[in-house]
Amino acid sequence: MPSVTLMAEVIPALECRGLSSGYGEAVVIRHLDLVLRQGETLALLGKNGMGKSTLLKTVMGYLPALAGTVRLEGRTISGLPPQRIARQAVSYTPQDQALFPDLNVGDNLRLVVDDERALRTAVAHVGGYFPFIPDRLTQKAGTLSGGEQKMLLLARALISAPRVMLVDEITEGLQPSVVTRLVEVLRVEQRRLGFSLLIVEQNVRFALAVADRYAVLKQGEIADLGASADAGAETRIIDHLRL
Ligand SMILES: Nc1ncnc2c1ncn2[C@@H]1O[C@H](COP(=O)(O)OP(=O)(O)OP(=O)(O)O)[C@@H](O)[C@H]1O
Ligand SMILES: [Mg+2]
Repeated sequence: MPSVTLMAEVIPALECRGLSSGYGEAVVIRHLDLVLRQGETLALLGKNGMGKSTLLKTVMGYLPALAGTVRLEGRTISGLPPQRIARQAVSYTPQDQALFPDLNVGDNLRLVVDDERALRTAVAHVGGYFPFIPDRLTQKAGTLSGGEQKMLLLARALISAPRVMLVDEITEGLQPSVVTRLVEVLRVEQRRLGFSLLIVEQNVRFALAVADRYAVLKQGEIADLGASADAGAETRIIDHLRL
């Protein structure tokens, strides 16, 4: 009999088996198998329209699974509504409309903390990475720059203390120095909090810098999967994105 600890180590953080989903008649994700290991970062890459966001929406329960299952730490979550999935310490940062633009910065963060004391602690912590946050608590989130909004989104995801983090294209439109900053923040916070991270990316350099493994999605199926440190990983991914 394996010990309880050993069994816990082999249960993936997140597991999709034979997963299909889409919109009405249009099947976008096709019998997809994908495993996010405990504590790892997996980058999901692919050209526009390949189904990356659709996959995250399905995992979170915003879209129903047409076939297959999604398991979170061994428990089936497919079929549950998004709020019940989020309550199991899963944070999801969608590609679009992730902030409440008419709420101020502080109120956007209040959505994921219990009280004012927790907010103050969280703001002091993320302020160490993104100093504009404590300075602009009363500014409407919709009036922040695009880059600041992305940093606020990441900060909000981190302070929700997730066990599993799903992030959809956080680097879109960011200048290289901010992208580098995000890599550092994610690395430090993952070491501190131990979450497992599934990150959708178009930026291959960022993806390989931040992720332990990568997967390329093509027409709703995994076309390539490997370790970021593999020789030739970058060239292979770029080829996939070109073809
Ligand atoms: N709400 C929707 N209704 C119908 N079809 C949709 C809807 N959202 C996405 N699709 C279609 O599903 C397919 C996959 O879209 P998805 O947004 O998952 O791609 P993606 O890989 O995230 O692309 P991108 O890199 O541009 O964000 C596309 O063909 C898209 O047109
Ligand atoms: Mg997308």
